[in-house]
Amino acid sequence: MNMFQNRNSFVKEQDQVSEDHGGAFFSVRDIHAWYGESYIVQGVSFDIARGEVLSLLGRNGAGKTSTLRTLARLDSPALTQGEIWLDGEPLHNRRAFQAAQFGVQLVPEDRRIIGGLTVEENLILAQVSGQKGWEIEQVYERFPRLAERRGQEAITLSGGEQQMLAVARALARDLKILFLDEPYEGLAPVIVQEIESIVRQIRDLGITTIIVEQNAVAALRLSDKAVIMDTGQAVFAGTAQEVLDNKELRDEYLAI
Ligand SMILES: Nc1ncnc2c1ncn2[C@@H]1O[C@H](COP(=O)(O)OP(=O)(O)OP(=O)(O)O)[C@@H](O)[C@H]1O
Ligand SMILES: [Mg+2]
Repeated sequence: MNMFQNRNSFVKEQDQVSEDHGGAFFSVRDIHAWYGESYIVQGVSFDIARGEVLSLLGRNGAGKTSTLRTLARLDSPALTQGEIWLDGEPLHNRRAFQAAQFGVQLVPEDRRIIGGLTVEENLILAQVSGQKGWEIEQVYERFPRLAERRGQEAITLSGGEQQMLAVARALARDLKILFLDEPYEGLAPVIVQEIESIVRQIRDLGITTIIVEQNAVAALRLSDKAVIMDTGQAVFAGTAQEVLDNKELRDEYLAI
């Protein structure tokens, strides 16, 4: 399809796309997306099996956040070509709220917790504004720090605690796949370890996850698979171990 075609006709056309979704739990097929006239996501493809964790890596400005936003079906950048399938459901012809109903949960870099509400109110709001996932008490079992601070206004939480709340809020909704955009960003090493252990628990619970991180080593340690992006394209897709073992790849794209 011509990617310059207007977007409404794209969505219509996608409704008629074949029901061939391969079989991967989450399948991204040659997606292209634009911010207005800026062509940013320039053909990204990968598959994730249920319960796998995938690291989406690459230099600043490579297009990682834009790819996550496209996968979560936010309006910007606008998807103009390609397919996205989650557990047999097409996401490419859906809007963000529908993707959320299908179980896509994005924890953005800025975390978007509601500062004026307490920890518990943030969690309750997540449950009532989406299909309910974990019970609040279940969340507190996994996040004892949040349990201790349940009555505290979110704005007063430390950066690490805010990140925990952002992840906890995603789990309080019914989710099939979790997207984490730089969960360790701006956090002290000891707090990074704490968040890492939470991500590890999430992985061990079998929740399919895509993690975008500048801290590539930390992300790869937790991941089954890896995709490396450069200037909007996926330049590598394989296992996390292959990246750890490939010095050239690490030198060229990850500086690790
Ligand atoms: N709203 C926007 N409008 C126009 N261009 C944008 C917009 N947001 C991002 N871009 C551009 O898209 C490109 C990819 O940005 P993106 O944020 O996806 O990169 P990233 O890999 O997440 O980078 P970082 O590691 O710095 O977070 C960059 O050139 C950026 O300037
Ligand atoms: Mg980013």
